[in-house]
Amino acid sequence: MKDNMIKQLCSLLAIMVLCGSAGASEGKKIFETYCWGCHHQTAVAFGPPFVQIAKKRSAEEIQAMITDPESVSKVFGYKRNAMPAFKLKREDLDAITRYILSYKNVKVQ
Ligand code: HEC
Repeated sequence: MKDNMIKQLCSLLAIMVLCGSAGASEGKKIFETYCWGCHHQTAVAFGPPFVQIAKKRSAEEIQAMITDPESVSKVFGYKRNAMPAFKLKREDLDAITRYILSYKNVKVQ
């Protein structure tokens, strides 16, 4: 009886781990599809790196920038806006935002 419960608990944990990593790779896919040409996770490219963005912006700020960069880049203090707007599905917007914020505690040397 007790063994059975432990087994069930283990498969539940395995599912949670699998789903968690599936969520992260979804964000990575969106990054590679739309953002990769201009952004890098840890290095400055044409746009700022995700490590830098994650440290100073909230999820709301990141999503505002993706959907309306023309207005938001001004609020963020950029003199000109070079990033295009993206019309992403709600779940894709959430996935890319989580992906960016996952770099919050990543150290760059
Ligand atoms: C054509 C190049 C280009 C592409 C593609 C692009 N960006 Fe950007 N991004 C920039 C540039 C340049 C900036 C700096 C502000 C500006 O010029 O508008 C920026 C700024 C940002 C910022 C705000 C940075 C800050 O100061 O906090 C976020 C967030 C961001 N990009 C996310 C994304 C995401 C997510 C994608 C993909 C869906 C993406 N960008 C695609 C060029 C790009």
